[in-house]
Amino acid sequence: MSDITLKVNGRTHTLDIDPSAPLLYVLRNDLGLQGPHFGCGLGQCGACTVLINGSATRACVLPTSSVRGEITTLEGLAEEGTLHPVQQAWIDEQVPQCGFCQNGQILNAKALLDQNPHPTDAEIREWMDPILCRCMTYYRIQAAIKRAATSMAAGRSASGKEVVA
Ligand code: FES
Ligand code: FES
Repeated sequence: MSDITLKVNGRTHTLDIDPSAPLLYVLRNDLGLQGPHFGCGLGQCGACTVLINGSATRACVLPTSSVRGEITTLEGLAEEGTLHPVQQAWIDEQVPQCGFCQNGQILNAKALLDQNPHPTDAEIREWMDPILCRCMTYYRIQAAIKRAATSMAAGRSASGKEVVA
């Protein structure tokens, strides 16, 4: 065990943990965050996705000691009670079915729109392909990403903050 410091959703935590523990376990078990899900535990499904410095990362296979940078989980997307445009688009398009994969879908979609604010259908499919959904919500996911892109272009930056002209 040793002290590890993590910055998660804007807050700094110092935890006495096994440094080899996967980040997913630490987020869920030590910090009580329930956004990232345990799916395969093998880095294959994407249910455990978090953002590290904005990049979509699979937390189930990442030793906590190797984390460098700021972690954002699904809980960290909303700001001061306002949903991120991607979250709002997910609601508007009624994307989830069972919901299990949706943490990974939403965070991966945010990472896409941060890099590419106006993705084509083909770019959305290619980017989102690694995040598996056994309920086959893929068409609604695509529609929600396009809706979020439109919303962000109309007044919110890719980070989710209001754009000041
Ligand atoms: S639980 Fe991490 S990729 Fe499946
Ligand atoms: S909504 Fe059920 S696995 Fe994606």
